[in-house]
Amino acid sequence: MRKNIIAGNWKMNTTLPEGLALAKGLNEALIGKALACDVVIGVPFIHLATIAGAIDTAKIGVAAQNCADKEKGAYTGEVSAAMIASTGAKYVILGHSERRQYYHETSATLKTKVNLALANGLTPIFCIGEVLEEREKGKHFDVVDEQISNALFDLPAEEFARLVIAYEPVWAIGTGRTATADQAQEIHAHIRQTIAAKYGDDLAAETTILYGGSMNAENAKDLVAKPDVDGGLIGGASLSVGKFLPIIEAF
Ligand code: PGA
Repeated sequence: MRKNIIAGNWKMNTTLPEGLALAKGLNEALIGKALACDVVIGVPFIHLATIAGAIDTAKIGVAAQNCADKEKGAYTGEVSAAMIASTGAKYVILGHSERRQYYHETSATLKTKVNLALANGLTPIFCIGEVLEEREKGKHFDVVDEQISNALFDLPAEEFARLVIAYEPVWAIGTGRTATADQAQEIHAHIRQTIAAKYGDDLAAETTILYGGSMNAENAKDLVAKPDVDGGLIGGASLSVGKFLPIIEAF
């Protein structure tokens, strides 16, 4: 069966000492707990090695929030997938709407990033989702289909099987306006159907699809109770153990 995952996305928050304290606090809070999901934290690049060395990475997977679209070389300021993997991180968040919007990431760039992440043994957490105007026009199904197919559908099945998908409606990110559990279920089922049409029912049934966008301790239970919602990608509420832990325990 597919994995349930609760993943934090710290975004550009926490200094290194603050981030280390947060990661260690979470690590301690999870000691001795039998969890019904995998736990991941997406931390700033400069935190990766320190945090991966300070926590039990068998219990908490460490993720980067981006990687370069080049393998190595003269690309000042960039961080490669190989560098990320060398820190002990196991995941990389790719295609987050903030990166698409503010850093102009396109499906073509993301396709390259996904390939490099996979080639370096990282699990991409690949984000998709529509903006409010697209939802209001009823275009959200087409938008996610295009985002998936343009960036991911050239992958052979055995590579696609290594991905995690995160559906994040842009209008719900950081706004406090979450999708309802029914809205999430409806589009997650659609996404799974799209994957099934390309790769077959078995692979679609094995694909973890996370929900993201103002997920918190209050709404997490309803969301993860839906059959096609396999966990969450959590921004704001992942920045404190007290808010993140109840989401992990929602399963
Ligand atoms: P949020 O962010 O939980 O703060 O809405 C989610 C995300 O951007 O991954």
